[in-house]
Amino acid sequence: MCGIVGIVGHDQATEILLQGLEKLEYRGYDSAGIYVLKQANQGFLRKASGRISNLRQEIDAKVSGNTGIGHTRWATHGQPSQTNAHPHSSADGRFYLVHNGVVGNFKELKETYLKDVTLVSQTDTEVIVQLIGYFAAKENLDAFEALRKVVGLLDESSSYALALIDQTQPEKIWIAKNKSPLLLGLGTDFNCICSDAMAMLKLTNRFVELADGDVAQLSPKQTVIEDVKGNVVKRKEFTVDQDASASEKGAYEHYMLKEIDEQPAVMRTLVQKYLQTPNAIDEKLLAAMKQAQRIYIVAAGTSYHAGLVGKELFEKLAQIPVEVHVASEFAYNPPLLAQKPFFIFLSQSGETADSRSVLVQIKEQNYPALTLTNVANSTLSREADYTLLLHAGPEIAVASTKAYTAQIAVEAILAQALGKAKDLQRANELDLAQELGKVANAMQTLVDEKYKIEQLAKQDLLTTRNAFYIGRAIDYATAIEAALKLKEVSYIQTEGFAAGELKHGTIALIEEQTPVIALITSAKTAAHTRSNVQEVKARGAQVITIVKQALATKQDQIILPDVAELLSPLVAIVPCQLLAYYASKQRGYDVDKPRNLAKSVTVE
Ligand code: F6R
Repeated sequence: MCGIVGIVGHDQATEILLQGLEKLEYRGYDSAGIYVLKQANQGFLRKASGRISNLRQEIDAKVSGNTGIGHTRWATHGQPSQTNAHPHSSADGRFYLVHNGVVGNFKELKETYLKDVTLVSQTDTEVIVQLIGYFAAKENLDAFEALRKVVGLLDESSSYALALIDQTQPEKIWIAKNKSPLLLGLGTDFNCICSDAMAMLKLTNRFVELADGDVAQLSPKQTVIEDVKGNVVKRKEFTVDQDASASEKGAYEHYMLKEIDEQPAVMRTLVQKYLQTPNAIDEKLLAAMKQAQRIYIVAAGTSYHAGLVGKELFEKLAQIPVEVHVASEFAYNPPLLAQKPFFIFLSQSGETADSRSVLVQIKEQNYPALTLTNVANSTLSREADYTLLLHAGPEIAVASTKAYTAQIAVEAILAQALGKAKDLQRANELDLAQELGKVANAMQTLVDEKYKIEQLAKQDLLTTRNAFYIGRAIDYATAIEAALKLKEVSYIQTEGFAAGELKHGTIALIEEQTPVIALITSAKTAAHTRSNVQEVKARGAQVITIVKQALATKQDQIILPDVAELLSPLVAIVPCQLLAYYASKQRGYDVDKPRNLAKSVTVE
C-alpha cells in the first residue's frame, strides 16, 4: 500500500517521478505528491488529492531538478486530502519525506519529542520527518545521522519504506526500510528507488533489495548501505528481465479485461515452465512436503479463495490433509498444528503484511514454508524456504484475475508432483499438460464470447443493489471468489453461498429480481444445486446459470466447455470475472482502481 519513488542524478527527475508514480498507482490512489530539488535550498513541493493525473495538473515547467521523491497514497492515518498527501516536511522546511508503512508508536513519539511542534497533517508519517528536523537541529546531526536516530525510535510494530531529502544537500537521498518493500535501482550516473521495479524499468533493470533495518545514502554515482547495526554492507544485485511494455494497457480500455483475456496464455506458459521443463519443481521441496502430515495454506482475499481450491487439489491428488486459513486470523489466533506441518503462502504480490506476519511466526518455529507468488524477489518469496512463481506477468488491475487462476494451476501442478512422488494412482494417471491445455482452450472460448456476458450484465446487474453466487463443493469456492470480484469492482453487495445453506436463513434476502448466479460443474451436486435454483426462482430471483457443457440444458445461460472436474474452477471463474468487469464498466466505475482498495496490502 502506498508507492514511493525517488531519483538522484537525472535532469528529468520530475517526469521520471510522475511516470514512476503512474506505474505504482495500483498501490494506492487517493492522493499523491512529489518534491523535486533543483539546487541547494531551491526545491518544489507539489501535492494533490486523488489520482496522479490531478498531481500532473499542479506541475508546470518550473518544477524541475535532478533529485526528487514521490508518493502515491492509500490512507491509513488521516483522510485522503492534499494536506495528508506526502511528501511531508519538517517544521523548518529543511527535510522532505515520503513513507510507505505505519508508525506504531507515532502518538508516543509526538508526545515525547514534538510537544512544541505544530503538525500540519494527521499522518503518522509527518512525525518521522518532524523528528528528523528536531534531532538534526537539537543535536546538530546530518541527514543520515538524524534518519538513523529516528528509525531507531520506531517501535517493533512499525513498518516503513521511506525516502528523505535534505534541501541543503542537493544530489542526495537517504532511505530506510523495515517490512515494507523498497528497491534501489542502479543506473549510470544516477540511482533511483521504488516500491516495485515496474516503476523504474524504463530507466534500469538492475536492482538491489534492501534488508529490513537497512538505511542507505544515494548519490548519482554511489550508494552506501548500512545494516541495522551500522555496518556498511553490500546487498545482492539482481536484474529484472521484464519488458517495461508488459505492464502497458495496449489497446485495452482497462487492465482488468486485458488480464482476464491473458489467462489462456498464462495456462500455456505454466505448462511450459513447469510441465515441459525438467526438474522445474525442486526435489527438496517435494521431499519436505512428503514428510509433512498436514498442509496449511495461508493467504488473504482472492488468494485465500485460490487456497480453498488448492485444498481440493492436494487432498485428491496427493492425499494429504489441508487446512486453509485467512492470514489475518491465523496471525493472532493460530490453530492447533499437526506435529509436522508444511506451510504454503499464496500471494500474488508477495508483500501482503497479514501473510508475512504468519510467515515470520512459523519461521520462528522452523516450520518449512513455500510461497506461490507472481513477484520474484518479493518479501514472502525471500523469506520462505521455497518459491514457485506464477509466471502470470504483471497484474495491474486491483481486482485479481489471472493471478488467481495461475495460483490454482500451480497448486494443481505441485499437488500432482507430490502425488507422483508418493506414487499415487490418480496423480500418475493425470495428463496435466494436456488437461491444462484444454483449460486454456476453454478459457479462450469464454473470453471470445464475452459479448454474451456483457449483455447478461446489462440485463441483470445494471441496477441491482445485491446479488448472490451459489454453488456446492468446489463450486462454492468459485462462488465466494466470484462474489468478491463482483462486489469489489461494481459495489453490488454480493455474497457467495454454499447452495444448500441459503435456505437456512439467507433466502430471506431473495426478492423479486434479486440476481442469483448458480455454478454447476459437478454431476454429483448438479441436481441439488438445481433444486436450490428452483427455490430462489420461486421467490422471484433472476437466475443466471453457469453450467459445464456435459450437464447443461437449453435453459442454461452460460455454458462452460468441459475440462477435468478437478480443474473446473479455472474455467468457471472466467465468466464471473467478466460479469464483474462489465457490471463495473456499465455502472461507470473506475474498473481498475475501485474505491478504498489498493493492490498490494502492506499494512496489517
Ligand atoms: C481481490 C484481491 C485481493 C488480494 C488480497 C491478497 O481481487 O486482489 O483480495 O487477493 O489482497 O493479495 P496477495 O495475493 O497479493 O497476497
